[in-house]
Amino acid sequence: MNSFRALVVEEISENVFQRKIKENSIDFLPKNDTLIKVFYSALNYKDALSARGHKGITRNYPHIPGIDASGIVIESKSNKFKAGDKVLVTGYDMGMNTFGGFSELISVPSEWIVPLPENLTLREAMILGTAGFTVGLAIDAIFQNQISPDDGPVLVTGATGGVGSLAILILSKIGFKVTASTGKTDKYDFLRKIGVENIISRNDVINETDKPLLSKRWVAALDNVGGVTLSTAIRSCYNHGIICSIGNTSSDKFTVSVYPFILRGVRLFGIDSAETKMDKRLTIWQKLSNQWKPDNLDIIVKEVNLESLNNEIDLILQGQQCGKVLIKISDENV
Ligand SMILES: NC(=O)c1ccc[n+]([C@@H]2O[C@H](COP(=O)([O-])OP(=O)(O)OC[C@H]3O[C@@H](n4cnc5c(N)ncnc54)[C@H](OP(=O)(O)O)[C@@H]3O)[C@@H](O)[C@H]2O)c1
Repeated sequence: MNSFRALVVEEISENVFQRKIKENSIDFLPKNDTLIKVFYSALNYKDALSARGHKGITRNYPHIPGIDASGIVIESKSNKFKAGDKVLVTGYDMGMNTFGGFSELISVPSEWIVPLPENLTLREAMILGTAGFTVGLAIDAIFQNQISPDDGPVLVTGATGGVGSLAILILSKIGFKVTASTGKTDKYDFLRKIGVENIISRNDVINETDKPLLSKRWVAALDNVGGVTLSTAIRSCYNHGIICSIGNTSSDKFTVSVYPFILRGVRLFGIDSAETKMDKRLTIWQKLSNQWKPDNLDIIVKEVNLESLNNEIDLILQGQQCGKVLIKISDENV
């Protein structure tokens, strides 16, 4: 392969960005030790920000976004991988300041690569992708906090999004009762179908009073929204529960007093999927491919290709996606 197709984002004039599918010479790729043919990628909120020209995420353009990729090694200078190995890559700098997975080829350091777990296909690995891995980190934290399904419901905010819908699938698979908060009143059937017990409105997790503590409603939460939603989730947590801060689709700032922490022993746990160390990564992927693997992953999937990706990027930026956008980059039969 001397050339490859990819979605390239260019800055055509100051702060004006254009996204195009382009045929590129292989010399366009960074010179890392492992070259991978990509079969699947996935769309994350962060990818959309990078594709929109968010310089806090991607400093320099032209750029190929995509923090997720699964595929087959073409060549590697590392003795850890050889041609033909099936692999997945999520996070680190990929798709941020290193060209990412919206591309037929990636060149990445071998330290970023996870061998495809035995019980996952390349396609399933990308239905999960960063979103599923992030949920895995949160579930691991919930168990580390000695919480089990009998202890009470788990709140998932931004429930219809990529992280949200995977959180519901995986939590319900392992027996947790999920309370889902959403702004999409037309998606209640979808949420019930994927395993939600109790649906509440997005506004129901927005308490703008300065009350330090609120009625106890959940033993744990996976929060994709931030802001007042995160503050409300913390103030409404059972004693010795855990709130996992994952995202900031509403706001990156929140205010709480110390009382949920010193009177209820609530733990606030930050999730950073991108820089998770490799040994932890391997443990979480093992669980995602075994006891945490939902039987019905396809139920949340919208499968697209590179050509139709542009429109999906706009939808996720408007908060309008439902479920997980899987991107088929190359045909597995070729
Ligand atoms: N910490 C990590 O390692 C990590 C990893 C992955 C993702 N993230 C972050 O997690 C968040 C979710 O990512 P994603 O890829 O799942 O994005 P996504 O698919 O766009 O989902 C986000 C969901 O948040 C809700 N939402 C959107 N705008 C909102 C607003 N203004 N106010 C309240 N709710 C809003 C919507 O759900 P409803 O309509 O159902 O309410 C939306 O579907 C992002 O902030 C992302 O950057 C962090």
